[in-house]
Amino acid sequence: MENHRPFLVLLFFAFAVGFIAVVFVLRWVLHFREGLAWDGGAKEFNWHPLLAVTGFIFLQGIAIVVYRLPWTWKCSKLMMKLIHAGLNVLTFILAVISLVAVFDFHNVQNIPNMYSLHSWVGLAAIILFTLQIVLGVCIFLLPVSPGYVRAAFMPIHVFSGLFIFTTVIASALMGITEKLIFGLKDPKYKDSPPEAIFVNVLGLLITVFGALILWIATRPSWKRPSEQLLHTLHNSEPASVGTKTDTAVSERPDPQPNSEARRRNGKTEE
Ligand code: HEM
Ligand code: HEM
Repeated sequence: MENHRPFLVLLFFAFAVGFIAVVFVLRWVLHFREGLAWDGGAKEFNWHPLLAVTGFIFLQGIAIVVYRLPWTWKCSKLMMKLIHAGLNVLTFILAVISLVAVFDFHNVQNIPNMYSLHSWVGLAAIILFTLQIVLGVCIFLLPVSPGYVRAAFMPIHVFSGLFIFTTVIASALMGITEKLIFGLKDPKYKDSPPEAIFVNVLGLLITVFGALILWIATRPSWKRPSEQLLHTLHNSEPASVGTKTDTAVSERPDPQPNSEARRRNGKTEE
């Protein structure tokens, strides 16, 4: 596992920071705010930040890096697609419940809907996320699209996935700031009460988590090796696939070895 060391260190940090962010948002709504309930009041609103951070940020981050985990490279590509898609669908469900909570709260309290930049960016992110899931399932999971369509769509899928994740984080930071400005009355946000400091730290944790996930997901040398390469290594020396894979991945001259393998074969494995 020598060559995976920097990856594993960053992965550990990403997971730890993301997990601490979830604990922070839980403490925010339970300790500093009113708690949780489904009653049309402030307690119902609190599901919104809790599920947004837990689902739309933490879980989505995990779903994005799941292909990169070296111990999953012995699993079939289909299995990994199901895990990636499944985690994204779970993320989607939590994000939708989080939206239902805030819309219901607004309707019961007679607060207008969709007036803020936060809500516009947030809703756009959910719509794009839905589209990404539908296209991802239709193109990569169902055995209907030809290889060249899969290959052509892959860079778009990866870019839009990272773009949506970044947009969700930007939206969360706006939402947090709004809530602190609305919610802190005496003392006010500008007077830096303990809740303001605590939640500002939550915003920093979310930002650092996003940066770590984006870094991990954009390192070409940490990509899952192509099926062809894994298959070759497996057949030539089954007992040492892990070690050989490490070497093969780290010593590749081509930063996009998988796409190279696909080009040579004239087919895709996505
Ligand atoms: C409202 C999306 C995270 C605070 C809204 C609304 C949407 C939305 C669409 C409009 C609801 C309506 O008009 O009835 C999102 C998304 C998030 C997210 C996609 C994913 C990260 C957060 C977080 C907070 C937050 C972490 C922190 C407390 C608020 C507040 C409102 C709101 C205070 C009511 C005011 C407004 O409409 O801007 N959110 N939100 N949001 N959200 Fe979020
Ligand atoms: C790869 C995001 C849904 C199939 C990726 C990557 C991202 C991403 C960022 C690049 C990962 C990497 O380079 O290691 C998303 C998001 C989704 C979503 C945000 C949901 C909104 C889906 C679905 C499928 C799918 C439903 C269907 C199976 C794939 C495949 C790869 C991929 C096959 C290539 C993995 C590789 O390079 O080996 N996705 N994805 N995605 N995604 Fe998705």
